This record gives sequence, structure tokens and C-alpha cells, in this order.
Amino acid sequence: MTTTTETLRLVTLPGDGVGPEVTSAALLVLTAVLRQSPVGLEVAEHPIGGLALDIEGDPLPRSSLDAAMTADAVLLGAVGGPRWDLSEVRPEAGLLRLRSALGVFANLRPVKVWRGGERHSPLRDERLRDTDILFVRELTGGAYFGRPRGVGGMAPNRRGVDTIEYGEAEIQRVAHVAFRLARQRGHHLSSVDKANVLATSGLWREVLTEVGREYTDVKLDHCLVDSFALRLLLEPRQFDVVVTENLMGDILTDEAAALVGTLGVLPSASGGGAGPWLYEPVHGSAPDIAGQGIANPLGAISTIAMLLRLTLLREDLAAAVEGAVGAVIADGPLTPDMGGSAGTGEVTSAVIEKLSTLVTA
Ligand code: IPM
Ligand code: MG
Repeated sequence: MTTTTETLRLVTLPGDGVGPEVTSAALLVLTAVLRQSPVGLEVAEHPIGGLALDIEGDPLPRSSLDAAMTADAVLLGAVGGPRWDLSEVRPEAGLLRLRSALGVFANLRPVKVWRGGERHSPLRDERLRDTDILFVRELTGGAYFGRPRGVGGMAPNRRGVDTIEYGEAEIQRVAHVAFRLARQRGHHLSSVDKANVLATSGLWREVLTEVGREYTDVKLDHCLVDSFALRLLLEPRQFDVVVTENLMGDILTDEAAALVGTLGVLPSASGGGAGPWLYEPVHGSAPDIAGQGIANPLGAISTIAMLLRLTLLREDLAAAVEGAVGAVIADGPLTPDMGGSAGTGEVTSAVIEKLSTLVTA
């Protein structure tokens, strides 16, 4: 979609657990923002994950996939929960198929410590202040999709197999995304791998170095994942853009939530395919607090900022939403995961109120 499109056709896939609660909150914010712009909004909701498994026997029904593929943007809540732990097909399989079908190989996960937000992290203020990292996680390859996989044999001799596989072209394309983003930011790219052990990481490192020759204005560092995991907490300000493969990216972005004190505020956007971008908060379905009205909506609301920036090309509106989220993180009200006692609705209303002072046209 382009800036001239008059109506944003959004498909929502609220999913399981707190997914529906945070998706509704995000939609309230999107509606409030678009009211200030000439862009209209058309929303179609479809099932995914455990809910879809229950009603259609498939965690990604054909109708949900078709709707997503032809939308301008897709907003997902969360999938999974203990109810489906013994299910042969897992709710998560629906999400993985969706990512793969949309071809969204580049998952952008910004981790920004807002001024006044340092106190939410267990780490010391002076280490955290002004931390601003953009993770680029490869999303459609590696151990998540490699074959063979599965468990075979009979107890006590069962064996489980997963396969990490990356083709050169898969590495190149995500590397280009990361280098281009580094160029728009601090011109520093850290590539994370396990090249001292894994063959795929050796190839990853070589390809990153080769692609880097086209971006002489970007400083490229290679980091081993174990030491990176430590440095991320000890010296987070050393990093600007970080690119890594699928499984390492999954783990490291949850770890990075320690910098902001909760997974509840982290957004993500996945793109690179020919179709729409997929927007989802980094947090999961949090079944322990689902239905209580206390889920943190700030992650889902921040994904709306990414949508405004990347699908609607409205940097002004994206910055306004981020400004409102930053103000709420600094001043409250906040949900219990951030030490507050407010509910999802109260935090969402506070963001919308701050927004009204930030959006002028
Ligand atoms: C994430 C989640 C998913 C992943 C799960 C739900 C399949 O943890 O988006 O980080 O592992 O990619
Ligand atoms: Mg994860």
C-alpha cells in the first residue's frame, strides 16, 4: 500500500490468551490516530492458533491465510497456551506457517529504553540510559523450518531431530535489510552467530562479510552468541543494529526485554515478502493473566507505531504514538508487570489522551 491509499485494509488475528485484549487496545489507538488523518480503516478479524484449532481443526485456516495475504497489513495478538500442550498440531504451527506464507523473512524488533523508563529494569540506570537497539531476526529459516525434524523410535530409545539450515540467498537478503537499516541509524551492525561451532554460522559470517563490502559506511562486527548474550546486559549501549538467525533472535530478544523491564512493551514488524507486513507484539499469550484485563497493551500499541511507519509511511504519526507510549512509560499509569496497578483499558486511554496533545494534523 502507498500513502495515496485511502483505506487501510487491516486483518487482525487476535489469537489466544491475552492476544484479543491487546489487539483491541491497539485497534483503539490506531482508530484514534487515523481519525486525525485522511486514511480510512477497514478491519476484518480472523481466527489463528489454539482458537482456530478448536473451531476449525487447523491453527491457520485457509480463510485466515487468504485474508492475511490480500490485506494491506496484518496485526497479530499471540498464539498458544497450556490447553494445547498435548495437541498433536500446536497453535504455534499456525503462526510459523503464516510467517512463511507471507515470506516475511526480516523481523524487526526495536528495544528502546525511554527516558524515565530506566527504573523498570533491574539493571542500573547508567548502563541503560539511551539504549536503543534494533534487532533484525531472520524469521523464515533455520531450526524453525529445517528438515528433517521429528521424534522417532520407541522408549527408551526415542530420538529427536531438528535441522538448522540456511542457504546463501536467505542470509544475503536479511543481511541487506540489516545493513540498510544500520545506514539509516548509527552505521553500526553487529552480527550474532555461533561460528566457532555451527556450520550454518560459519556461512552466515562469510556472507555477512561479503554483503558488508557494499556498505563501506557501516561498521560490521561479528559476535559469538554466548558472549553477546552477556554484553547485551552489561553494555547495551554498544549496540545499534543487531542481525541474527531465527532461533538466536528469538532467545536474544526475550533477553533484551530485561533492558526495558518487561516483555510487555516490545513491538515487532516482519516484512520482506511481496505481500503485507505482519505486526505482532514480542510477548506471548500469557495464559496466566488472560481475561483479567491487566495485560500490558504497550507492546501491541507500539506495533501500531511500526505499522504507521512501515505500511502507511506516516513517520509523523508513528513518532506521535511512540511519544505517547514513552510518556506513559515515564509517568504511568502502568500495568502490574511494570509495577503499576492499572488495567489494560486505563493504560490504553492514557496513551490516547497523550496522543491528542501530540497529533496536530
Ligand atoms: C516469538 C514467539 C514465537 C517464536 C512462538 C510463539 C512460535 O516466541 O515471536 O518470539 O518462537 O517465533
Ligand atoms: Mg519468542
